[in-house]
Amino acid sequence: MTTHAIASDNHTYINQLSNHAGAEVVLKGWLYNMRSSGKILFPQLRDGTGVVQCVVLKNAISPELWEALKGLGQESSLVIRGTVRADSRAPGGYEIDVIDAEVLQQVHDYPITPKEHGTEFLMDHRHLWLRSRRQHAVLKVRHTVVQAVRNFLDNDGFTLCDSPIFTPAACEGTTTLFEVDYFDGEKAYLTQSGQLYNEATAAAFGKVYCFGPTFRAEKSKTRRHLTEFWMVEPEMAYATLDDVMNLSERMLSYIAAQVLEQRSEELKILERDTSKLESIVPPFPRIHYDDAVKFLHEGFEKGVLESKFEWGGDFGAPDETYISSQFKKPVMVSHYPAAVKAFYMARDPERPELALGVDVLAPEGYGEVIGGGERATSLEFLQEQIALHELPEEAFQWYLDLRRYGSIPHGGFGMGIERCTAWMCGIEHIRETIPFPRMLYRIRP
Ligand code: 4AD
Ligand code: MG
Repeated sequence: MTTHAIASDNHTYINQLSNHAGAEVVLKGWLYNMRSSGKILFPQLRDGTGVVQCVVLKNAISPELWEALKGLGQESSLVIRGTVRADSRAPGGYEIDVIDAEVLQQVHDYPITPKEHGTEFLMDHRHLWLRSRRQHAVLKVRHTVVQAVRNFLDNDGFTLCDSPIFTPAACEGTTTLFEVDYFDGEKAYLTQSGQLYNEATAAAFGKVYCFGPTFRAEKSKTRRHLTEFWMVEPEMAYATLDDVMNLSERMLSYIAAQVLEQRSEELKILERDTSKLESIVPPFPRIHYDDAVKFLHEGFEKGVLESKFEWGGDFGAPDETYISSQFKKPVMVSHYPAAVKAFYMARDPERPELALGVDVLAPEGYGEVIGGGERATSLEFLQEQIALHELPEEAFQWYLDLRRYGSIPHGGFGMGIERCTAWMCGIEHIRETIPFPRMLYRIRP
């Protein structure tokens, strides 16, 4: 084959083969797998959009090419020219009858083989592991989650206002801050959340969102925690806790519907029980923290939970799992004790010890996917809270200005993209939902 074929843009992607039935195409990719049977080779080619089986007849190609193809190992790079043939038994509905091929690189020792590997090995080879079918499916679902989030918010009148990553102060408590040396001895912190900046942009634009990487120096090694994760955070001026819950419910339902519609192939590969996603439709049950605690007490009495939950605490993973197991849909828990929540939360006027915050707990043990609520509006109250949380008031003066100049009821939430993706995919650990996860004991590759 001439290099012209390789250089040309005029090649076909595997997911477009149905537009080329009966025609001759050029495919460019990597060898996914190879079977052979005497005088026929069945290389499976993957190109990032799909995998297709090709058929090579010994007497249809040159002896040199036959020898070259016969010995190819997994992930060899190659270009294939062939005819597209519809075959109802083939996974994608088509096979390629090979006319010619060119091998760009022969590979013989690809480290990831179809046999079982341990997670640590796979994580060390994450840069290659991404090529496997399952990982590919998970990241395609992530792509759709992100796209759905953007479409949903853009179509709902939200303006994207990105927030900074270097910040002078904490948003979500000082225990999980990553410190960075800025200039001239000044410290900066990697952002934990863009919320405080969203509150400023919401006062300028009405409905806003930020969407970017956020950082938590979490010492927790769980299947739900990353140290770097992507968060989408909508914020609305003139909004109450109810508005925040309505938006959470609508956005999650939209995401699930989009994943179902656009990622049916991937959900099949992941063996996802799609009925679980189909049930993500409004309305979601809404319960008060007090009622959630009642559930936990029942769980303890039934012997499902090991210890009796004490009113006033934050829920741990087993608590969240138990609460959400009471429902088929995501459940929204509101009115947490203010003591376990961030400094900026508005208080319940009836019971000021409670915060007007909400966590959305996903079913099937996926836990909190959304956290948010209504923000405090009073300057004096926030000054008190900043002092109480031992935060540097000086770094928050700009934030306090939002309560000096046109203070309004407002609120919003943050959703972790990886937690949402893990839930959509039905997979165990969120480390597979981001191309290169950052965790307590992993910063490589
Ligand atoms: O509940 P969190 O901490 O809320 C905030 O940061 C608010 N300031 C957001 C807002 O109101 N604008 O985090 C929000 C979400 C969680 O529900 C979870 O989905 C995700 O971010 N999240 C994490 N995801 C992965 N790893 C971690 N360590 C996470 N911490 C939070
Ligand atoms: Mg939270």
